[in-house]
Amino acid sequence: MDRRDFLKVCSTVAVASMIDPSVFSNMLSAQEGMFKAYKKALLVKEDGSPLREEDLKPHNAYIFFYPYASTPCYLINLGEEVKPVDVKLKDGKTYKWQGGVGSKKSIVAYSAICAHQWSYPTKQYSFINYYPPDKPSEITKKSGVIQCCAHLGLYDPKEGGKVIDGPPEVPLASVVIQEEGGKFYAIGILGVDQFNRFFETYRRELREAYGSIAKARELVDRCVVMEVSKYVKQVIHC
Ligand code: FES
Repeated sequence: MDRRDFLKVCSTVAVASMIDPSVFSNMLSAQEGMFKAYKKALLVKEDGSPLREEDLKPHNAYIFFYPYASTPCYLINLGEEVKPVDVKLKDGKTYKWQGGVGSKKSIVAYSAICAHQWSYPTKQYSFINYYPPDKPSEITKKSGVIQCCAHLGLYDPKEGGKVIDGPPEVPLASVVIQEEGGKFYAIGILGVDQFNRFFETYRRELREAYGSIAKARELVDRCVVMEVSKYVKQVIHC
């Protein structure tokens, strides 16, 4: 990275990082252009109060929308420490995934848009879901995974969203979450995001759901976190 690129990364990251200097330096040292800062957004409960760690039942999947009003993400308390890992892409690029947050470092967040063909949870149904340890997939027999039933893409939420099996070529993008005084903020996206393909592919659906593409693409500064089963009518497991 030359000096000009470095400064570009610094200024992008700095937007999100009027925050904790350690996050800032970790991001800079490890990401090589794989981290994109978006508006810093507070995670809140449905009543509008800040989400606290104790609100997240272990292995329950929660949904929120970040960085855009229409782009769904999953928040999961995996119940145990999740360590940072290096995530390697097929083109040889590597980035450092930050691991879990919270007192046990067990809380992780990912984009819920499948990296294969952008299947995503809607209010009607969801093909892409988290399978807790006690509810393995009937087909793959795997648990503790995020699995997309559209074409059986499997991702590992303990390993930065790495692809375990199936057709996805890249890991799930992760949401970088920061904890400050017991509150949680989303500050950016790490990895290969699918937002442009998502907006191109679902123009009609998004226009119907949000009134316009501009509305669907509004950046958020607050994210309501709710249980997936409350948001999605039919959670499709396979
Ligand atoms: S769209 Fe998810 S595996 Fe194909």
